[in-house]
Amino acid sequence: MKKVLTFVTVLLFVFALAGCTSDDGVVTIGANIYTFNDNFMNGVVRPELESYAQELGVEIDIVDSEGSQATLNNQVDTFISKGVDVLVINLVDPAAAGTIIDKAKDADIPLILFNKEATVSGVMDTYDKVWYVGTDSAEAGIIQGEMMVADWQANADWDLNGDGKVQYVLLKGEPGHPDAEARTVEAVKAFTDAGIEVEELAIQPSTTWSTTEAGDTMAAWLTTAYADEIELVISNNDGMAFGAIQAMTNASYDIPIYGVDALEEALAKIGTGDLNGTVLNDGVNQARATLDLAVNAANGVDVLDGTDWVLDSETETKAVRVSYVAVTADNYEDFQ
Ligand code: BGC
Ligand code: CA
Repeated sequence: MKKVLTFVTVLLFVFALAGCTSDDGVVTIGANIYTFNDNFMNGVVRPELESYAQELGVEIDIVDSEGSQATLNNQVDTFISKGVDVLVINLVDPAAAGTIIDKAKDADIPLILFNKEATVSGVMDTYDKVWYVGTDSAEAGIIQGEMMVADWQANADWDLNGDGKVQYVLLKGEPGHPDAEARTVEAVKAFTDAGIEVEELAIQPSTTWSTTEAGDTMAAWLTTAYADEIELVISNNDGMAFGAIQAMTNASYDIPIYGVDALEEALAKIGTGDLNGTVLNDGVNQARATLDLAVNAANGVDVLDGTDWVLDSETETKAVRVSYVAVTADNYEDFQ
């Protein structure tokens, strides 16, 4: 009897560790990345989702939505028909959140949206089992802006034409993406808030966050009439900054440039002086928060149970926002 009891206790313990749902065994998670071509999502967030799932003893299936919301819609249908316990979704189109939320709601499966915040107002209130994990989009732009203003003020020679204004170009990233939109506004606003006039020479017309596309854009800018007028390159992520840096190297330009994300390669480029600064987008903690909430939701307990995460109290109550951190030549080694 004692042996049997011990065996049962051990089994219970194993199941508890594995994070079992109320109905059966191990928690299964249906997840996606909006495209495996994204430096940040594929290079930082995806590996952490995989290793942290292992650490938690849960099963995760991460599919590539290849930049197509239609593909993602089908992938979600498949996850639902397979009976996953929770959905962990990186929207392709942030305006399409309602479609995914409705699918989860109809199937009564909890849903964690991460990285791309829904842009349709009120949509998060249509389902009690949907939460968002990401950042405060504006914060990255504010931090990047402060960094650029401080450097501009410390380097009088950056004002190439001596008119007191910052002639800049901006690599925006995906239009309609809350991060791209908010960073664009805040980075520039930092200058005007500091009483420094700005002049936008050009803004990236493209539709992705890609290195190659940004490189082509920068190369084109460097061959236009205002090539010698560019005093600053503002890039809304590191991946695009890498392309721009390559284009500058090819054309023998060395213009101050700032990114966002703090990818490994960006830290190295700060070390060599190719990149002037970046902002840590803490993908590791975003991945961990995403899974913590997902596993709790799957187990039917409070999503914050046993975690240190807090729900955003300023905007709405269903988002966990991980903070950004300024990364410059002074502190980049701390992040390597
Ligand atoms: C990152 C970008 C990334 C995007 C994907 C942003 O938070 O800064 O690098 O491309 O998320 O949605
Ligand atoms: Ca100037």
